Amino acid sequence: MDGFEVGPLTVSRLCLGTMLMGTSTPVREAHTMLDAFIEAGHNFIDTADVYGDGLAEEILRPWLARHRDQVIVATKVRFRGSDPGGEGLAPDRIGKACDASLRRMGIDVIDLYEVHAPDPDVPLEDTLEALDGLVRAGKVRALGASNYPAWLLAWAARTQDCHGWAPFAVLQAQYSLVERSVEMELLPFCRSAGIPLTPWGPLGGGFLTGRHGRGIVPPAGSRVAEAADDLEEAAQRRATEGNFRTIDELRAVANECGASVPQVAIAWLLNQPGVAAPIIGPRTLEQLRDLLAAASLSLSADQLRRAGAHTAPPEMYPNRFLAEQNHINPEQPLRRAGHPVSR
Ligand SMILES: NC(=O)c1ccc[n+]([C@@H]2O[C@H](COP(=O)([O-])OP(=O)(O)OC[C@H]3O[C@@H](n4cnc5c(N)ncnc54)[C@H](OP(=O)(O)O)[C@@H]3O)[C@@H](O)[C@H]2O)c1
Repeated sequence: MDGFEVGPLTVSRLCLGTMLMGTSTPVREAHTMLDAFIEAGHNFIDTADVYGDGLAEEILRPWLARHRDQVIVATKVRFRGSDPGGEGLAPDRIGKACDASLRRMGIDVIDLYEVHAPDPDVPLEDTLEALDGLVRAGKVRALGASNYPAWLLAWAARTQDCHGWAPFAVLQAQYSLVERSVEMELLPFCRSAGIPLTPWGPLGGGFLTGRHGRGIVPPAGSRVAEAADDLEEAAQRRATEGNFRTIDELRAVANECGASVPQVAIAWLLNQPGVAAPIIGPRTLEQLRDLLAAASLSLSADQLRRAGAHTAPPEMYPNRFLAEQNHINPEQPLRRAGHPVSR
């Protein structure tokens, strides 16, 4: 499968998330999974300074010592951690957090450095200028944002543009067949601005696996069964009729293709325009091997339609008003004076 352009980087169409490495996934198995991932032809790895409070980045260090040139590494800054301590996106903290991530991973440049979430306590300009400084200093190749609302991402992109600062080259946001809010504002903006999306939680935290469904109690020990009520993957949040029907459709499509339910869920995401690489989050080597096959799974237009039929987000004003009464396509790429029409 072809790669995807993310700013100056070419990434594979699957990204391997490391959130569980060193905690739910033992280190040795994590390294075997990383080996299997690159052996399958992929190069994109996602981590964060807060995963295991730095443990996920530390686990990557011995593996990266052998494979640094073969991979694109994304990490993140924002949430509370013990090194450098504190939290947030103040310039001073960003600088220290970047150095700490570089040190933990034993590398001298981070390919993609992402803000994990907005920080309303710090002026946006201060954060963006500090991030630009990291690119200019050669500590970071490209920048990304995660968990930004569309208005803030648009504001940030315009601010970076005006100041000539390094732009956000990617958005990392939750996106799956059971969480499609990004389709309302974020994804149309990202497509217009040429900012690819890397979906986290592509299986809804484990819901889109075939182990959950109408009347099925999530298996003990699974993420969904254990999730606290305020977590995105909490069982009660997923237990909607639309989600259960989606599982039924995925099972039917999977049977038609000789594939698994998770493979179909990931393949659906790969077919959404503007999606660069779903960030897969397998807990075991067996789960990873299953997901790798999604990259080459081809779904027909009808299968894609059926998979997505029950969870489309509601039609929203003003898009509904513009499209239905005024025949204006609200998703038409933005025209900008002096720029070619963007993707
Ligand atoms: N930017 C952010 O705020 C943010 C937030 C969350 C995650 N992330 C990134 O996104 C990555 C993926 O997120 P996620 O873990 O929520 O992804 P996910 O794909 O929605 O959920 C992963 C879970 O699905 C189950 N699973 C995965 N593959 C399976 C298979 N083949 N068969 C059966 N079950 C399977 C496992 O559940 P069980 O453990 O129950 O078996 C696994 O823990 C993370 O590693 C991290 O890098 C980013």
